[in-house]
Amino acid sequence: MDTDTLISKLNWFYSLELNQVDLYNAQSKIFKGRYSGLVFERCAYIEQNHVDNIGEKIKALGGKPTVLGDIISPIIGKVAGELIAMTGIEDTLAINIMIEQKAMKDYNDLIEKLYQDKYGDKELIKILQHNFVDEHLHTEWFRTKIIAIKQYEFTAKHFSASTKMPHKNQITEYPHGNPPILTTLKRAKIVKPRQIKSVKW
Ligand SMILES: [Fe+2]
Ligand SMILES: [Fe+2]
Repeated sequence: MDTDTLISKLNWFYSLELNQVDLYNAQSKIFKGRYSGLVFERCAYIEQNHVDNIGEKIKALGGKPTVLGDIISPIIGKVAGELIAMTGIEDTLAINIMIEQKAMKDYNDLIEKLYQDKYGDKELIKILQHNFVDEHLHTEWFRTKIIAIKQYEFTAKHFSASTKMPHKNQITEYPHGNPPILTTLKRAKIVKPRQIKSVKW
């Protein structure tokens, strides 16, 4: 890969990471006072580290870190500004997962290309890998949070304080033959991780 192509690819990440800093900072304000707000604040800090480490590499390659504008809207098929007004935690987390997965896929593609090209700058590859791991950790926290919310909602709906628990010798029948907890597991599958299939490094 020639240097100009690499710089333009890094600029794409630079812009995406900057967009994510803004997004997570906005979300940390919306969810202020909740643990999620604190997590978004921390995510913004980590994304800022990514902005900085990618920006430094662009400069080292002789380029100028350049903001390419709104990178997020095309990924999610919505105007990024609308997300700021979005207050539902589940929607927020789902959108965040989409963006993080796009970042992971593109980091993975670039890392593989650099390996194929036997690119000499191992430090750059390590930075990209570490950024990838951070995005992976963000994704997994968001996903775990969605599952926890769904399980809580399910429990609150089906096992409220007034629910009489069956006696241990009492035979319990469920309309579809399965205990309700299975439904929870099915719901959990909705947010099952979509694997990045080609991580080889
Ligand atoms: Fe990032
Ligand atoms: Fe991230």
